[in-house]
Amino acid sequence: MQDRVTLPQWLDHLIFEQLGAKYQRSNADMTVIDWDKKDVLNYLGTYFPRSYAEAYCIFTEFFRTGADRYTEKTELTVFDFGCGTGGEIIGLLSAISERLPQINNVHVAAMDGNHHSLRLFESVIAEYTTRTRLRVSHRIIPLTIDDFYDLHVMNSVLSGDFDIFMSFKAICEFVTKERFEQQNAYAHIAKTFLPRIKGDGIMVLADVSTYNNVSQEWLPMVMDEGIAQSQSRVLLRNEGYNQTFTVRHQKRANDISKIAWRIIQKL
Ligand SMILES: C[S@@+](CC[C@H](N)C(=O)[O-])C[C@H]1O[C@@H](n2cnc3c(N)ncnc32)[C@H](O)[C@@H]1O
Repeated sequence: MQDRVTLPQWLDHLIFEQLGAKYQRSNADMTVIDWDKKDVLNYLGTYFPRSYAEAYCIFTEFFRTGADRYTEKTELTVFDFGCGTGGEIIGLLSAISERLPQINNVHVAAMDGNHHSLRLFESVIAEYTTRTRLRVSHRIIPLTIDDFYDLHVMNSVLSGDFDIFMSFKAICEFVTKERFEQQNAYAHIAKTFLPRIKGDGIMVLADVSTYNNVSQEWLPMVMDEGIAQSQSRVLLRNEGYNQTFTVRHQKRANDISKIAWRIIQKL
């Protein structure tokens, strides 16, 4: 499986030269939901390229081995839970564009509670749509999920079912902030959204693989316990404890991220 990516030149130029992204790493258990514009520009320069690379590699591998499920389709619907600046959306769209030639239309719903991140995502996707063969429509859902109730409300107002539901490095913040009290956040999100996925649809859960100081647990173990509580089966996952991805961009020749990821399907 490919695990090395160079950020496309136009994207590198857009985030660093036009949008003012900076390279600045943060500490463990960071909660981006609270970040201001300056912090989010640090996110854009540091973690956006990693999210792009992670998603591009994971989806390229999945489409290489599991493209059959898409042969009858010409369009896909996607939901991104905690999209932030949306690196994984651009990574996913790039993989679709390269690997699934019969797909022409992609509809993306992107939810996040941080408005600075969403504004940057809007700039990035606007530029992406001028550079791809895909027709991409997107809908921003600016929403902070404080608790069980907010998640339930969002689910009840959401229309349609999804081919791909994904969440990259966002559920860890629900663990840190104890949004669902002592409940397993991955289980709660999987149980809520698996019914919103089409019969042949997939859910992609990807997250940092660190020890969480609030829950006092290793996140990949929490993720696996959560998936085991949902009515699903794992189609593809990282080998071992976590997977290393490397991305090259103008600030780093070999920027490394380590994440745990699972692709699941409802039973
Ligand atoms: C570490 S960032 C990941 C962003 C993006 N998915 C990526 O991989 O680059 C986590 C995102 O989750 C969002 N988030 C965290 N808690 C949230 C909540 N309670 N409601 C809505 N969004 C939340 C944050 O605003 C942030 O954009």
